[in-house]
Amino acid sequence: MPKTSKILITFILAFIFMATVVWIAMAQQTQKSAAILKPGTLAEIHKAKEITCKQCHGDSLKVDDNEKVVNQPCIKCHGTLEEVAKKDKGHINAHKSHLGEISCTVCHYGHTASKVYCLKCHGFDMQIPGSNTDKKERQAKIKKDEAKDKTDVVVIGAGAAGFTAAITAHDAGAKVILLEKQPITGGNSMLAAGGMNAANTKIQAKKGVKDSAELMFNDTMKGGKNTNNPELVKILAERSAESIDWLISIGADMNDLGRLAGASVERSHRPTGGAVVGAHLINVLRKNASDRNIDVRVNSNVLQILRDQKGRVTGVQVEGKHRGIYIIEAKAVIVASGGFSANATMVESYRPEFKGMTTSNQPGATGDGIKLGETIGAQVIDMKDIQIHPTIAAGSKILITEAVRGNGAILVNKDGKRFVNELTTRDAASAAILKQRDKVAYLIFDENIRKSLKQIEGYIHLELVKEGQTLKELASAVGMPADNLEATIEAYNKAFDTKNDEEFKRPNMPRPIRTPKFYAIAVQPGIHYTMGGLKIDGLTRVIGKDGKPIEGLFAAGEVTGGVHGANRLGGNSISETITFGRIAGTNAARYAVKDNK
Ligand SMILES: Cc1cc2nc3c(=O)[nH]c(=O)nc-3n(C[C@H](O)[C@H](O)[C@H](O)COP(=O)(O)OP(=O)(O)OC[C@H]3O[C@@H](n4cnc5c(N)ncnc54)[C@H](O)[C@@H]3O)c2cc1C
Ligand code: HEC
Ligand code: HEC
Ligand code: HEC
Ligand code: HEC
Repeated sequence: MPKTSKILITFILAFIFMATVVWIAMAQQTQKSAAILKPGTLAEIHKAKEITCKQCHGDSLKVDDNEKVVNQPCIKCHGTLEEVAKKDKGHINAHKSHLGEISCTVCHYGHTASKVYCLKCHGFDMQIPGSNTDKKERQAKIKKDEAKDKTDVVVIGAGAAGFTAAITAHDAGAKVILLEKQPITGGNSMLAAGGMNAANTKIQAKKGVKDSAELMFNDTMKGGKNTNNPELVKILAERSAESIDWLISIGADMNDLGRLAGASVERSHRPTGGAVVGAHLINVLRKNASDRNIDVRVNSNVLQILRDQKGRVTGVQVEGKHRGIYIIEAKAVIVASGGFSANATMVESYRPEFKGMTTSNQPGATGDGIKLGETIGAQVIDMKDIQIHPTIAAGSKILITEAVRGNGAILVNKDGKRFVNELTTRDAASAAILKQRDKVAYLIFDENIRKSLKQIEGYIHLELVKEGQTLKELASAVGMPADNLEATIEAYNKAFDTKNDEEFKRPNMPRPIRTPKFYAIAVQPGIHYTMGGLKIDGLTRVIGKDGKPIEGLFAAGEVTGGVHGANRLGGNSISETITFGRIAGTNAARYAVKDNK
């Protein structure tokens, strides 16, 4: 073959090859933007309104796991959450959230089906614009991100313990990254309704309540059936007043006092007017973290705690929704990932009899921190000590507060009959309900009791409450024998009048059940709190199986065991998260910044 034609053929082949490469690349590009503009997604809906990629994304299409950059444009065009919440929807308003200030992208997604985050806990019907895509979701892409981030302290879990630890470590001079696997921060902490126990506080003094660390210690040990770790309980009690001062110093309102079961005096601190404690604290903590520019990453699931050959903790491996899997190098790691009440398999493995029970917990309470710790040799204790709450609205995850019974409601079974002293301990009330037909009971109350408690309006709003103008109507609404219910209420009202509940020995009957309308809420026991977890010492260092602290590893909050023993008292858990969160933050920062240069 002549040399020129050889060159010509090579040239033609090279041309065909190049053209193919370009064509494939172009096809991929179209496919990619078709995928990005899937019908029914917000990106496509906005494109139809001639809104460009740039208007939502700015100059870069990269999205960080804090999702701050993609949220700002939503707010710029549509207004803040508070502003969009002003529009009346004529039904439950997803923008009027008891979760506080949360990002638009908690629910609204750009390119995949939007999902109403509320429905992870609630069962109400709710359509969200942009959810109209095919059901098959794009598989979360796991990119191996070789770049490593570096910091002094990593905190796993953004509940009260995690936020407190992060803020304290930051204020002690450490660089901190706080990781949360859910799309929102707050954990179970934002659901806490009752209050925070503390002894010998200025607020108690102002109200003339005489209390002492010793009394709180004794109450806590007694509540925990004396199986608590006394060293930790001592810290909980002695440093509780200081924790209240700290919260006030960062902007919290802890001015109201209440008394919860098992406490000898009024020591449950909460915002003015008795407002729920958890949502308030989480809002204050979020603001403090943000004011300090602490790096808070949501959608960031910690997969592993990393160690060097000497066994010292060196960081974590994380999976971010956008970044994929990557490593954060850190000198110290604080585990604050909460309990495992929402992990049915784990609960069942320790307590087979609790199989199939619902829970009051948020969906991220899956015990990850316990597993992360165990994998690197941490000791776990008290794992079988799991607290059941007797009154979760049946078929839901909504905890019906004890105050409904406290204010006068009674419990009846499906036959319309009482079966227990309604004010007995959580475990006894739960056990009694589990013995009834279908393991269900009904809280029964009247108009006066409804008016005495604001939270009941919320349950009505959520359509958890059945009602009747008469007891007969109520009985037929819930499907129980009317004669029985009438007889039960008559007997109870008589007990109220004579101040003597002969049959069940209920100690306190604040109101009779006489004034129409009459109401019922179906309830079932559910998993509420896990007392066990990582073993720690007084400095919140995690203890290994050899009995020595694992270097660089700290833990605080519900993920740890020992503070509550066999049974936790109401109000002690939030108290634990703040006090031990502060200790963990201080010690981790000291370890990372000073001791570990
Ligand atoms: C409905 C309800 C009411 C309550 N009322 C009270 C009360 O009135 N008073 C009281 O003292 N206690 C109360 N409690 C208990 C108390 O709220 C919790 O025990 C406490 O808030 C736990 O705080 P925490 O910071 O340890 O964990 P959480 O607040 O649960 O935070 C842990 C966080 O870690 C995240 N996480 C888990 N795994 C990972 C991972 N692998 N990577 C990244 N993040 C992860 C979770 O998603 C979660 O956000 C109540 C609990 C519930 C459920
Ligand atoms: C440049 C301004 C702009 C930005 C940025 C923007 N939007 Fe919009 N959005 C609009 C306009 C205009 C409409 C159409 C309004 C209409 O038709 O009434 C719209 C519509 C919507 C709708 C209603 C869709 C429907 O079918 O009812 C939702 C929900 C929405 N936007 C959410 C968001 C979210 C979440 C973000 C951020 C991720 C965002 N928007 C960013 C301007 C914007
Ligand atoms: C907790 C979930 C959730 C969050 C967070 C959320 N939205 Fe929505 N949004 C919804 C739902 C659900 C609807 C459907 C409206 C309805 O039926 O109530 C909606 C509707 C809208 C609409 C359509 C018009 C309307 O009001 O019905 C706009 C615009 C919108 N959202 C903007 C925003 C912006 C901006 C943010 C952030 C500041 C935000 N949303 C945060 C759930 C959420
Ligand atoms: C309504 C606002 C909006 C518009 C318009 C929009 N995006 Fe997005 N985009 C988002 C949001 C929000 C995310 C975060 C991931 C999610 O929610 O799907 C995102 C994520 C992305 C990502 C990163 C995906 C990841 O998970 O890392 C890319 C790439 C992207 N968008 C490209 C585009 C392109 C290209 C366009 C124009 C065709 C566009 N976007 C238009 C809101 C928008
Ligand atoms: C982590 C679980 C969880 C999530 C997520 C959640 N809720 Fe709730 N919600 C609860 C619990 C528990 C209660 C009962 C609180 C109480 O008794 O005070 C409640 C109470 C309510 C009530 C009744 C009280 C009231 O203020 O009217 C409404 C309405 C409500 N939620 C709406 C929402 C909406 C809207 C969202 C999404 C923005 C949402 N919830 C997200 C757990 C959750």
